[in-house]
Amino acid sequence: MFPSAQKSTAIITDQFQRPLHDLRISVIDRCNFRCNYCMPEEEYPRHYNFLKKNEWLSFEEILRLVRLFASLGVEKIRLTGGEPLLRPNLSELIEKLSKISGIDDLSLTTNGSLLKEHASALKNAGLHRLTVSLDTLDEKTFQKMNGGKASVNEILKGIEAAEKAGFDSIKINSVIQRGVNDHDILDLVKYFKGTGHIIRFIEYMDVGNCNHWDLKDVVPSKEIIALINKHFPLKPAESNYYGEVASRYLFVDGTGEVGFISSVTQPFCGTCTRARLSTDGKFYTCLFASEGKNLRVPLRSGASDEELFNLIKDVWSKRVDKYSENRYLFRSLKEKSHKVEMFQIGG
Ligand code: GTP
Ligand code: 5AD
Ligand code: SF4
Ligand code: SF4
Repeated sequence: MFPSAQKSTAIITDQFQRPLHDLRISVIDRCNFRCNYCMPEEEYPRHYNFLKKNEWLSFEEILRLVRLFASLGVEKIRLTGGEPLLRPNLSELIEKLSKISGIDDLSLTTNGSLLKEHASALKNAGLHRLTVSLDTLDEKTFQKMNGGKASVNEILKGIEAAEKAGFDSIKINSVIQRGVNDHDILDLVKYFKGTGHIIRFIEYMDVGNCNHWDLKDVVPSKEIIALINKHFPLKPAESNYYGEVASRYLFVDGTGEVGFISSVTQPFCGTCTRARLSTDGKFYTCLFASEGKNLRVPLRSGASDEELFNLIKDVWSKRVDKYSENRYLFRSLKEKSHKVEMFQIGG
């Protein structure tokens, strides 16, 4: 018998004593945007060969795996894509996930373009928290960055709809690229300051194989903090929980907080408790992995819960990933191999 979801007996750790605590599930590899740092249009035209529906894990398969992950210590689930709101009937999945024993945090990361029509259904289904990606408020820059697929106004309307539906403290993720959208940092800060939402600036990362990443395009968080601090004084704040990815800062005037995700200049692999599941059921233990363990094959060929449980446990207990801490050592090796794409495992 595999253990039930009793965390005290079932928690496992990897080779660096990191527990398995979060599962990020990509529910679809398609996206209606073509962000230059993730899915550039030249490489992913509209008719690119994305996964076929029968290759997606079904909701039943996802739910079965989540119950098993919960029994191994997972308490946090984040749904991602591609763009997760393109997955038909997503709210049905959310409703069922929200009832799984042991899962106490259920969130979703979206590009916001479809939020206006989906926000209430997401809230009613039991989604706890929402993160919206928005890299700039400057229309021209936004169009350039997302491949001309949506306007800033549509995303802001989506955020408004989410507020009306009852989501508060919405997180806004902005990936900053030097010379592309770094001119807009202060406008983003001004817009969200005092709204109760939390803007987070993310250092541009070398995920996937197609964004032609270069260190000179990264704006280090330190630089962004200094810029913001000059106009809106900041003070550092404690992390909310062990292994929180963002470093938190509060506005001294009490009007809210801002976060910085510094995976390039201050990697956080030492406390990384995140597993990732791709749309087609591969289990990845790092955002920069080349391979994931295929769970769909055993799922569809009659594996028992115990067999699946042991498979997951085995992968996690052998885990040695620390890509961001050893980026320059790994980059030369990884350039020769293929890394999983961000839209396949959702960031
Ligand atoms: P909270 O639960 O609200 O704290 O969410 P989060 O900040 O962990 O999740 P979110 O998806 O918003 O993460 C923001 C961004 O941080 C992602 O889009 C990635 O760019 C980056 N990120 C998250 N997890 C990892 C990770 O394990 N490794 C690296 N290198 N980057 C990560
Ligand atoms: N570097 C940093 N963050 C990225 N994201 C996608 N690609 C990258 C990258 N190359 C972020 C998006 C979104 C989340 C899904 O991942 O901005 O917030
Ligand atoms: Fe952009 Fe997210 Fe879509 Fe990638 S998955 S193209 S980051 S909106
Ligand atoms: Fe975790 Fe890999 Fe990111 Fe390091 S690079 S924090 S091991 S996902």
